[in-house]
Amino acid sequence: MKIAFELNGKDICLETAGDRRAVDLLREDLNLTGAKEGCGTGECGACTILVDGRSQLSCLMLAAQLSGRKVVTIEGLATAGTLHPVQASFAANGAVQCGFCTPGMVLTAVDLLERHPHPGRQEVIAAISGNLCRCTGYKKIVEAIERAGQPPAMELSIQREIDRIPSAVSTGSTGSPERPVFVPESLGDLWRLLSDHPGAQVLAGGTDLLVWLRNGRINPSALICLERIEALQGISESDDGVRIGAGVTHETLLESPVIGRLFPVLAQAVKTLGSPHIRRTGTLGGNIMTASPAADTLPPLSVLGASVELQSPQGIRCLPVDTFLAGPGRTALLPGEILVAVRIPRPAGITFQYFEKVGLREAMACAVASLAAVLKVSDSGIIEFARLAWGSVGPTVVRLPEIESALAGRPFTRETFQAVVPLVGRRLSPINDVRASAAYRRLVAANLLLRLPAVFPSCMPGFAGQFPEGGT
Ligand SMILES: Cc1cc2nc3c(=O)[nH]c(=O)nc-3n(C[C@H](O)[C@H](O)[C@H](O)COP(=O)(O)OP(=O)(O)OC[C@H]3O[C@@H](n4cnc5c(N)ncnc54)[C@H](O)[C@@H]3O)c2cc1C
Ligand code: FES
Ligand code: FES
Repeated sequence: MKIAFELNGKDICLETAGDRRAVDLLREDLNLTGAKEGCGTGECGACTILVDGRSQLSCLMLAAQLSGRKVVTIEGLATAGTLHPVQASFAANGAVQCGFCTPGMVLTAVDLLERHPHPGRQEVIAAISGNLCRCTGYKKIVEAIERAGQPPAMELSIQREIDRIPSAVSTGSTGSPERPVFVPESLGDLWRLLSDHPGAQVLAGGTDLLVWLRNGRINPSALICLERIEALQGISESDDGVRIGAGVTHETLLESPVIGRLFPVLAQAVKTLGSPHIRRTGTLGGNIMTASPAADTLPPLSVLGASVELQSPQGIRCLPVDTFLAGPGRTALLPGEILVAVRIPRPAGITFQYFEKVGLREAMACAVASLAAVLKVSDSGIIEFARLAWGSVGPTVVRLPEIESALAGRPFTRETFQAVVPLVGRRLSPINDVRASAAYRRLVAANLLLRLPAVFPSCMPGFAGQFPEGGT
């Protein structure tokens, strides 16, 4: 397919396979080897490039998705013979050893500093949490980013690689020309494409799908990118609640004041999902459709009573999330349908909302077990209702109605939670896998429940009511 985009300030037009990964296109066809391939699965950040000014992973991006975009690689960052201030700061502050991670680190920092010229240390650490460095250590890198506002000017002595890029290139040495990639801009175009290509698979952020494509788990006959369909975007609030487009990214959810105000349990979950790069491209719709037992948004959506809005040329239907999820990787989506939005009802008054996930490491961890909770507590400290959903301890989100009703009407105290914990052990039947044993998962699931009284004060700083004696 023909792809035209701006690369390092130069308009180029390519003939290439649309399903060729951007990292391959840049490195192999355009000889821009600054973007490195480390993991190839979104976990190391070495392949970072700037797309329309935002840092993105080129190993999780298709050539077709570059169309019409402004792309900057590390080779195009320096201008007029002078290093970019971030590059100069890395050099001046000893933030480079072997250099493998450096292009990705630098471009991620450029994105951060464009939006927040004076970030705090924690902000810098969070921004590069998806970029791994195996040799320099992070201290010098963080310092270099903090000091990037005042770097010494440095002459650029190498020839700018971009000058060598021809403006028209024919590529496609790998990729599969027999698997077309489409980028429709309306639902009407999408319905036509789905009808013409029954073996096609839709792609939103691609953070799951492109990993499956790479490891051979799927082999669709065509790919249809949803990212430019306006109808799948947007977060809107009404008297009934909030409607979130399926194509809304995790980053947009986190930045939304509406989500933070009404559904903190969802915001807390999204904050733990992947890395900044994964949250920038991964979508809420993709997380739901993956239907993984470890998908972080599913327990919050369950306790918030969310529904999915499914659309096909025949019309729209809505299903509760709990009914929609049928098992690992399985949903009630019908052929020809797509998920267009998620609807979440307004919470019933002021509720205590909390999400916690336990993984094998702090950043970018898949859940060993997670818990989402929504509780209403009266002014006298009595639980009016409790909704609890565990992730990663069953084939899909696990709700235990027995525990929810046992908590209702009881005081919000440690003793109340201790009394119901044995039920968790009896009712959960998680699996053993490479991440954790069933017994460990059961223990973590119970401990997450026991933590609720301890975290309540920090989640409800304005709680005006009274806890019963012996309460939290
Ligand atoms: C390094 C890394 C770390 C990750 N960490 C986490 C984590 O901590 N927690 C977590 O929950 N997930 C994690 N993920 C998984 C992934 O990022 C999320 O599940 C993400 O939300 C998927 O969204 P997407 O838009 O990228 O989906 P895609 O990859 O584009 O699609 C996923 C599936 O959904 C289908 N689909 C997408 N949108 C629609 C739609 N609107 N209608 C119908 N079908 C649709 C696709 O056909 C595909 O089958 C991680 C992934 C990576 C690579
Ligand atoms: S190569 Fe590791 S994130 Fe892309
Ligand atoms: S400098 Fe070697 S991996 Fe970071």
